[in-house]
Amino acid sequence: MTETVLEPVREPVRAPVLSVRDLSVSFRSDTRTVHAVDSVSYDLAPGEVLALVGESGCGKSVTSMAVMGLLPPTAHIGGSIRLGGRELVGATEKELQKVRGKDIAMIFQEPMTSLNPVLTIGRQIGEVLRRHQGLSKKEAKARAVELLDLVGIPAPQRRIDEYPHQLSGGMRQRVMIAIAVACDPSVLIADEPTTALDVTVQAGILEVLQSLRERLGTAIVLVTHDLGVVADAADRVLVMYAGRTVEQAPVHDLFGSSRHPYSRGLLGAVLRPGGEGKRRLPEIPGLVPSLDSQPDACTFAPRCSRADDTCTSGRPGFKAIDLQAGVDALHRVACWHPYGADDAAATTPAPDTLDTTDQEAGE
Ligand SMILES: Nc1ncnc2c1ncn2[C@@H]1O[C@H](COP(=O)(O)OP(=O)(O)O)[C@@H](O)[C@H]1O
Ligand SMILES: [Mg+2]
Repeated sequence: MTETVLEPVREPVRAPVLSVRDLSVSFRSDTRTVHAVDSVSYDLAPGEVLALVGESGCGKSVTSMAVMGLLPPTAHIGGSIRLGGRELVGATEKELQKVRGKDIAMIFQEPMTSLNPVLTIGRQIGEVLRRHQGLSKKEAKARAVELLDLVGIPAPQRRIDEYPHQLSGGMRQRVMIAIAVACDPSVLIADEPTTALDVTVQAGILEVLQSLRERLGTAIVLVTHDLGVVADAADRVLVMYAGRTVEQAPVHDLFGSSRHPYSRGLLGAVLRPGGEGKRRLPEIPGLVPSLDSQPDACTFAPRCSRADDTCTSGRPGFKAIDLQAGVDALHRVACWHPYGADDAAATTPAPDTLDTTDQEAGE
């Protein structure tokens, strides 16, 4: 008799839309070399929101610009960036132009600098549609109205003939998002998209991003230093420190049981007395190291209370915390002495206990 063996039920494996492997970026001048990004790897699944967090200068924007192929010629890029199976590292500018705006698009912190002040917003959206999708003028205008509606701009028929200066900051950012998603890209990179906006406007922009993911299935890399934004919007988080990735985890795992002392430093401070309602990355004592060298050590060791000789004499690998999970492990950490899951001493709040409505005065 043949025994019936039931196949275990598996989650369908979704091929990533974007796959970054060992991405390194350095800027060389006559006098020095800055290693801005050092062996960063991540995958982005269709419709997923991945937050990239870390202190200013840790390489979030350079990572994103590398993926967009928008770094200046002084940048030396190593590793691999695959978008829908196509390799972007080493692609020609002509090849990149075909991909940018069509398969992958980016929005920035300050929309005013990216919009053309002398063209109506309808014309600016229409140009992208005509260039990439070959629409006629009339078709492009009709589609532009739909896109403005999609990003929540009221009275789009009228707004379409307005100029950027006639719109508020939040509305301009919505226009930038409309331009970015005009050709239905599979990946949208949003680099600090809400940082320049006030809190209520920020919430509206995050809602727009969420609805794009739901309605169009757009996968989003959300670059932010705002922990409230991470808690509200992200599925998964990649924590960067001095150009390297130190931890990657589903958002609940990161807030609930982060393993890297740097992540705990960032998140734990939210719970400290007087820290309630703080959304910005808190100060951690010590300075971010110079990016002139790539030490064979943990770069966080000089600021870390758990550091010992091991940490200063070898570079930790970016390993799965659950070894059984293997190569697809979602929770990874680069640390010689990571916290354990039950290390309650520094357990950080779950995202839904974070106060994400309060904001420090003056920000
Ligand atoms: N074009 C450039 N030339 C030289 N160094 C650069 C350039 N762009 C960024 N950097 C350096 O790379 C590092 C990472 O910068 P960035 O990615 O902008 O940080 P973040 O976005 O995390 O604040 C910084 O030290 C920055 O000074
Ligand atoms: Mg930046």
